[in-house]
Amino acid sequence: MAKVTIDDIEIEVPDGTTILQAARMIGADVAPPAMCYYSKLATTGGYCRTCIVKVEQGSTKDPRPMPKPVPSCRTTVMDGMVVRNNTSPEIQEARAGIVEFLLINHPLDCPVCDQAGECDLQNLGYKHGAEATRYEFDRRTFEQIDIGENIKLHMNRCILCYRCVKTCEQITDGRVHGVLNRGDHAEISTYIEQAIDNDFSGNVIDVCPVGALTDKTFRFKSRVWFTKPMDAHRDCDKCEGKVAVWMKGNEILRVTGRKDEFGEVESFICNTCRFEKKSVSDWTIEGPRKINKKSVISANHYEETKKPTYLYDRVQLLNDGKKLPEVNSKDNG
Ligand code: SF4
Ligand code: FES
Repeated sequence: MAKVTIDDIEIEVPDGTTILQAARMIGADVAPPAMCYYSKLATTGGYCRTCIVKVEQGSTKDPRPMPKPVPSCRTTVMDGMVVRNNTSPEIQEARAGIVEFLLINHPLDCPVCDQAGECDLQNLGYKHGAEATRYEFDRRTFEQIDIGENIKLHMNRCILCYRCVKTCEQITDGRVHGVLNRGDHAEISTYIEQAIDNDFSGNVIDVCPVGALTDKTFRFKSRVWFTKPMDAHRDCDKCEGKVAVWMKGNEILRVTGRKDEFGEVESFICNTCRFEKKSVSDWTIEGPRKINKKSVISANHYEETKKPTYLYDRVQLLNDGKKLPEVNSKDNG
């Protein structure tokens, strides 16, 4: 075991734990942001540098500070290590610089992007971004590409975090896309624009931290904060069948994996659940999903809805196979 102090909070963690994992054990407020690391996928992390921290003391044996900020997702703790994240002004300034780099080519098209409201880069931009860009050159631009019939790739928005590549490599049975070229020419692409058509390919949508990979069955249907996320499940022979369904009225607009407080899915779901089960009768609705208080999705105090309401009563009727009463538009909640 190793004792590590992060932002003046001490925690004991197993040897081999990274600084990021140790910070997450303390809590989401202490944990550095992570745009490329994904705990459910191996060999992620090390690409984006948003998770940098200052190591003020290397260990009890060798207390010298580390000379430069280190990526917390790739640096393991040592006994007696002292780390600063939120409490280091230099780290906040360096992170602002990284956000500026990430935004060099990323278009500011949040008003028309389906990821708005649940975009890690948007959140990072609000916290660390500058008001204006200093970049004077043309941004990289690409045509939008259809990856199979359900996924749209907007390469303009991609930050090359590699999460989608690792997802396909590790949980589908044949990756047909990857990062082509390098440096300023690097881009996510399918080989000969082959469709990704295996049972778990839709998970690339959930792991993408920005709006580069979007669900074509949901695109432009609604702003995410106008929908009501519910936990739901069904018997599925391909995945656990535990999902979040995003409802508007009695309609399911989209189905996603259930995300935790760090924005990672609790378990990967199959394409049948994600793309084909859009009817309320396909699901057993468990109740409202708890949404992070900082998210715009909870802006209308959605998470405080505790007692059954009009919508839940109707969903329950549908689940029980009963007929719905007449709709009065004023009641529709
Ligand atoms: S498409 Fe999304 S998940 Fe894939 S590398 Fe780009 S930003 Fe990351
Ligand atoms: S999350 Fe650590 S480098 Fe991207």
